[in-house]
Amino acid sequence: MSDFESANINESSDFEEPLTRDVASPEEARGEETLRPAKLDEFIGQQTEKDNLRVFIEATRQRGEALDHVLLHGPPGLGKTTLAHIIANELEVPIKSTAGPTLEQPGDLAAVLTNIESRSVLFIDEIHRLSHVVEEFLYPAMEDKKIDITIGEGPSARAVSLDLNEFTLVGATTRAGLLTEPLRSRFGVHTRLRFYEEPEMRRIIRRSSKILDIEIKEEGVDEIARRSRGTPRIANRLLRRVRDFAEVEGDGLIDNDIAQHALERLAVDQQGLKRMDREILSTIINHFDGGPVGIKTLATAVGEEAGTIEELHEPFLIQSGYLKRTTRGRVTTRRAREHLGIKTEDSGPSQPGERSLFDE
Ligand SMILES: Nc1ncnc2c1ncn2[C@@H]1O[C@H](COP(=O)(O)OP(=O)(O)OP(=O)(O)O)[C@@H](O)[C@H]1O
Ligand SMILES: [Mg+2]
Repeated sequence: MSDFESANINESSDFEEPLTRDVASPEEARGEETLRPAKLDEFIGQQTEKDNLRVFIEATRQRGEALDHVLLHGPPGLGKTTLAHIIANELEVPIKSTAGPTLEQPGDLAAVLTNIESRSVLFIDEIHRLSHVVEEFLYPAMEDKKIDITIGEGPSARAVSLDLNEFTLVGATTRAGLLTEPLRSRFGVHTRLRFYEEPEMRRIIRRSSKILDIEIKEEGVDEIARRSRGTPRIANRLLRRVRDFAEVEGDGLIDNDIAQHALERLAVDQQGLKRMDREILSTIINHFDGGPVGIKTLATAVGEEAGTIEELHEPFLIQSGYLKRTTRGRVTTRRAREHLGIKTEDSGPSQPGERSLFDE
């Protein structure tokens, strides 16, 4: 592990609901190490993306080259950091990790790039948060394996071009829409992670239970899978907490009763929605007549930052059909009203003339 590894930890402002928060706390990040699959074969789900990566990795190994730069995007907790490490493992090369906000000056990046081992992986998390100057400094490195630096000061200063070792940049982002086109186009491989289906979630929970030596019945697996928002990080977190209930209030075994009881105590609803998710939906329904409402107005109304709503809450609400993003703002669906038990007379999930903005 390099010094840069420590930069790869996200902080969350959403302290109220640690259980379904999408971002890993520092302690949890350490816990995640135990459960993180190390090879592609152990990585569950995302089949198409996994199959493609396997081909690209094998082809570059055979040619003895560095893998093309890879962009990983998708909501938090779906496996981007995990995949970055898997790519390095499968290529049998070292990985250096850093994050967009840590690289403040071109010099910070130059220090990393000039020390990179041949064909190794440079992982830049939150790559959408790179500053403009650092981003532009990265272009020639990605394209031509060289960087331009200035040596000396004043009149004697001169620009020199430094050759770099071949390397693979793996960039991860939860906000692919925020990436500039020049940066996006310099990645040869684009891997988009999607929320996991329930059968995949069940496999992930079974795998984690085995590693953590947790006794769990199939019905317990089902219950946790259903309430984990298609997100492995949340499944692993709920599994650990449900185990606590099973050990303290039961005999250690996670069966249906203990899982139900624990998840109710943890205030995770039947579909895995958390308080803020429900608040977003009920605010749109009750205060804005179901929408459309602009993201800024909505953010003010629920007392959350617009970026947090867009990044942490919306993707799952949209994917599960509770919310729609339209050109005129956010609109709730009939499913949202039904889920919250709110009766309204009108129309149903879709309203004509609204273009979905979800697909970037
Ligand atoms: N496909 C998978 N199979 C098994 N476990 C997985 C899978 N994907 C993720 N996990 C588990 O979920 C945890 C979170 O994954 P990871 O840290 O890679 O998410 P991330 O996409 O990088 O999130 P963030 O955007 O917050 O950085 C991992 O520690 C791992 O245990
Ligand atoms: Mg990550």
